[in-house]
Amino acid sequence: MGGVITIRRFLPGDVEAAVALERSAGFGTWTEGIFHDELAADDRLYLVCESGGELAGFAGVMVVGEEAHVTNLLIAPERRRQGIATRLLKGLVEASLERGARHLTLEVRSTNHAARALYGRLGLAPVGVRKGYYGDDDALILWAHDIGRSEFMERLG
Ligand SMILES: CC(C)(COP(=O)(O)OP(=O)(O)OC[C@H]1O[C@@H](n2cnc3c(N)ncnc32)[C@H](O)[C@@H]1OP(=O)(O)O)[C@@H](O)C(=O)NCCC(=O)NCCS
Repeated sequence: MGGVITIRRFLPGDVEAAVALERSAGFGTWTEGIFHDELAADDRLYLVCESGGELAGFAGVMVVGEEAHVTNLLIAPERRRQGIATRLLKGLVEASLERGARHLTLEVRSTNHAARALYGRLGLAPVGVRKGYYGDDDALILWAHDIGRSEFMERLG
């Protein structure tokens, strides 16, 4: 499946489709209420990817001080490996830099090989482990320092 891809702000009208995407992908546990709270929070930034009138993915960050923390990222299974997550992360990094962030961090399941490959390629490195963070799995804490530097931005395309 191809088609024009648009990256834009995540709007309250996208929440229903985002919850449906989480359910169909079997990934994520956010209710509509959580999405609405996140969109309303001043320190959060959310983007969606739209293609052919459908939601192909979404991602968000929380920006606190110099730290941008990825809170959620999901791409529709049939739209993966098309660079969409990378484009969403690029949009979030640019918006986070505008808000004064200098570093990017997130937690990822130790067994989530796709996400770890994505983040590793972008230059996020493990700095710690939260044992049992997901109950059945550990979380790796990943960091990228100085996200405004050209080498980091170049990895985002
Ligand atoms: C992880 C995820 C967000 C990646 O989204 P995506 O749009 O497919 O990622 P991209 O197309 O931008 O991938 C960029 C690069 O990351 C790496 N990568 C991504 N998925 C990969 C996979 N399944 N296996 C190996 N490498 C992978 C590759 O280097 C890829 O480049 P390439 O396709 O040219 O080889 C997607 O698989 C997903 O939604 N997974 C379920 C939710 C999830 O894990 N979210 C992250 C929580 S921390």
